[in-house]
Amino acid sequence: MTIRSVFITGIASGVGAKIAARGLAAGMNVYGCDIDAEAVETVSLRHEGQSLTVFRCDIADTPSLFACFDEALSLSGGIDALVNNAGLYLGQPIAAYDDATIERVIAVNLTAPMKLSRRFAEAKQRAGGAGAIVNIASVAGEVGSSDAVYGSVKAAVIGLTKSNAMNFAPAIRVNAVSPGLIVDTAIARAIPDYRYAEYKRQEMLDGDLTTDSVADVVAFLLSPASRSMTGAILRSDNGCYPR
Ligand SMILES: NC(=O)c1ccc[n+]([C@@H]2O[C@H](COP(=O)([O-])OP(=O)(O)OC[C@H]3O[C@@H](n4cnc5c(N)ncnc54)[C@H](O)[C@@H]3O)[C@@H](O)[C@H]2O)c1
Repeated sequence: MTIRSVFITGIASGVGAKIAARGLAAGMNVYGCDIDAEAVETVSLRHEGQSLTVFRCDIADTPSLFACFDEALSLSGGIDALVNNAGLYLGQPIAAYDDATIERVIAVNLTAPMKLSRRFAEAKQRAGGAGAIVNIASVAGEVGSSDAVYGSVKAAVIGLTKSNAMNFAPAIRVNAVSPGLIVDTAIARAIPDYRYAEYKRQEMLDGDLTTDSVADVVAFLLSPASRSMTGAILRSDNGCYPR
């Protein structure tokens, strides 16, 4: 099916902003949310006059997240695709975490995508027709992370992808992209130096992995070209940590 409307979390910068730009270029109505008020204003101005609507919200605040999504639903008349992109990475060992921070990282990276996927699927099932979900996981969820909380939630996002592929079939395809080190992001700047060097050392391909490369794989998963795929985890990682 052709996706005509998409909702993207963490839409205002990094990978999310690139996914939004590709959606607009493909003629989609693009909706999304982000916690960063300044970045929301910047991305909205950048695409002024285009079919982009961005809400400011913290996805860990479920009533606020659902209010944004429901508003996007009523403005659009139906959302065909969801990209669970927003992520929180602190790049610290487990000993540096207090309990509230552990809960926060789980809420943003796992609970919010889980609840929003359910809300999206309920709406899609009411409306009928086919749809797609793309989750953004991480190489950290496959090979481990020096940040145990982040590594755990990203492994869980891979589990969520496979389980929801079963839960929402046959109407909704659910796939994930598992990126490596994306150099032009705030998250990359938070990665400890020794881990950054290790990721680069592991890469088989020349050049840096960028937000554009990752957005290209997401665009594929939203396109009819991937119509036979669900429950798949696609890597966008310059070949680091072959697995
Ligand atoms: N950057 C990397 O090297 C890398 C590697 C693997 C996976 N990832 C994943 O890719 C995805 C995109 O990350 P990115 O690198 O573009 O990061 P980024 O920090 O550049 O962008 C993330 C966006 O999400 C928003 N956001 C964060 N917390 C939020 C919240 N609670 N509510 C709403 N919005 C929120 C931020 O404001 C930001 O605009 C994340 O899921 C991340 O875990 C990133």
